[in-house]
Amino acid sequence: MPYNFKEKDDYEIILAIETSCDETSASVLKNGKDVLSLVISSQIKEHQKYGGVVPEVASRKHMENISSVVMAALSDAHKTFDDIDAIAVTKGPGLVGALLVGVSYAKGLALSLNVPFVGVHHIDGHISSNYITHSALKPPYLSLVVSGGHSLIAECLDYGEYIILGTTRDDAAGEAFDKGARLMGLPYPGGREIDELAKLGDAQKIDFPRARLKGNQLDFSFSGVKTALMQHIAKEGKENLKLNINDIAASYQEAIVDALVKNTKEALHKTGHRVLSIAGGVAANSRLREAMQKMCAQEGVTLYLPEIIYCGDNAAMIGTAGYYMLKNKKFGSLGMNALSYIQLGENKCL
Ligand code: KG4
Ligand code: ZN
Repeated sequence: MPYNFKEKDDYEIILAIETSCDETSASVLKNGKDVLSLVISSQIKEHQKYGGVVPEVASRKHMENISSVVMAALSDAHKTFDDIDAIAVTKGPGLVGALLVGVSYAKGLALSLNVPFVGVHHIDGHISSNYITHSALKPPYLSLVVSGGHSLIAECLDYGEYIILGTTRDDAAGEAFDKGARLMGLPYPGGREIDELAKLGDAQKIDFPRARLKGNQLDFSFSGVKTALMQHIAKEGKENLKLNINDIAASYQEAIVDALVKNTKEALHKTGHRVLSIAGGVAANSRLREAMQKMCAQEGVTLYLPEIIYCGDNAAMIGTAGYYMLKNKKFGSLGMNALSYIQLGENKCL
């Protein structure tokens, strides 16, 4: 079957697919930003009993779910396969077996419909999630990405074009939340639970350490605060943890948020950017949102926060990032592979 789709100036209706980790998601978008439907089928319950995502289980669940999730997204948008002008799919980074389900599905569908498809970088998707809600947001600007697998500060030069100014030396911010939650005996993933408990606690009660790093000052490190939490729990005992869980959660969260705000403020100073966006699962954290709003108000910086639904993994953000790739004719080929790691942009140490 030949794959010679006809190039167009505009791809009005995009079907987007995301299967990089533990959410099978599909979305139909009009003109890149108008989300006509978004379906997210979470596998969290499947993985909770193991305390983390099991890659083999994730791939199998994506296989079982992908067709019905896509059909539901089409039906919610009142569209059929014939209405689709292009397909956007996450090609990496992520769990390779999980990614392959989405990539293979997208390639097969693109071939049978004779429409183009694009392979989207997952983090480009997270950063692009802010375009859905904020029509005023346009490159260049600075972005802080905080998810389960990534923490980075990036300069967005143009749509899909980034320079990485800082990244994590060990755990990602979401990972720090999830590992902390595990130490506190909370269910996986744990970020949201810590956020909720922290609202009832005193964030100044325990002085957890903030990392001081040599080298790139915009890098993050969360292993120290995690170790300090482990030592605190071991020293004070299980009964104390039960009695003071709200204060422990609030103080632990404060240490993570502090580091994120401090480095982002530093990056704003160093680059001179006056516009900042935040993206990724941890962007849903209420304390982080509040602290960033305060810092940006003090600094006179315009802040864009994603809607909660677009913080975690979702296909709509992949559709928006894909829309700009289609505009720039960065089409995928049938030989395109899913990749567990792809560099988002060049690293630069300021
Ligand atoms: O972006 P995401 O859905 O997946 C990755 O690409 O990794 O992020 C998931 C992460 C998890 O670590 C989860 O605990 C964290 O986002 N998260 C939160 C909150 N909601 C989700 N962390 C802190 N506070 C929250 N409210
Ligand atoms: Zn993600």
